[in-house]
Amino acid sequence: MLIVGNWKAYVESRAKAKALCVSAKRLASKGDHEIVIAPAVPHIGFIAPAKPDTKEALKFGAQDVSITVGGAETGEVTAGLLRDLGVSYVIVGHSERRARGESDEIVTEKARHALAHGMTPIICIGEVDRDPEAHYLKHVRAQLSAVMSSLSTKERLSVVIAYEPIWAIGKSELEAITPDDLGEMILYIRKVLTDFMPGRANQKVRILYGGSVDSSNVRSLAVGTGIDGFLVGRASTDVAGFAALVKAVS
Ligand code: PGA
Repeated sequence: MLIVGNWKAYVESRAKAKALCVSAKRLASKGDHEIVIAPAVPHIGFIAPAKPDTKEALKFGAQDVSITVGGAETGEVTAGLLRDLGVSYVIVGHSERRARGESDEIVTEKARHALAHGMTPIICIGEVDRDPEAHYLKHVRAQLSAVMSSLSTKERLSVVIAYEPIWAIGKSELEAITPDDLGEMILYIRKVLTDFMPGRANQKVRILYGGSVDSSNVRSLAVGTGIDGFLVGRASTDVAGFAALVKAVS
């Protein structure tokens, strides 16, 4: 499984960042899962090895990337800068960024910047709410199609999709999606992906789930749903909690 810890802005001290990183390294070194941590950018600079060591199992992710390519762009953090820090994954289109006006076009552009610098974009999609008429499926299809239709065949094969329904983010474990509903959604996302990658090609694209995942519900969401991993927010910012979560999946 691919387990990504999105620290958001929960971690504000270097001491805490360091402690989480040391623990995540230990978890990654066991080799049961691919573990990625996505700290705030200044903390990546602080904890990531100066020379990315290919033997290091723990991977680093960024929570966002600039749409600009560098130069006279005050305050921007470009894909080139992230790559130089040793980042391998970039979360794009998180609902907390989309809520600040990020359109599908911007998300697509950011995914392309990440790909152009040899990093894997984790493209977030997900509905605000569920409705009895299942219009939310159309919303998920539209978000996914908007990005996929703009990427080349090769680029499509190099992305990770994170399904994160907004109604489930940042709540308690009881408010996460049910395993049955998750299984259905994974099938649906696979079906949409076949429009862009016919046959078995779409199996190369990993699909993650995010939204109130913790050590108590992760196992039921992992087994029998067809999921390839998790994008974990709050529960990834507690040393013991994240270790318990990773153990629970194993
Ligand atoms: P959460 O966040 O685990 O705190 O719900 C998940 C996410 O938004 O990536």
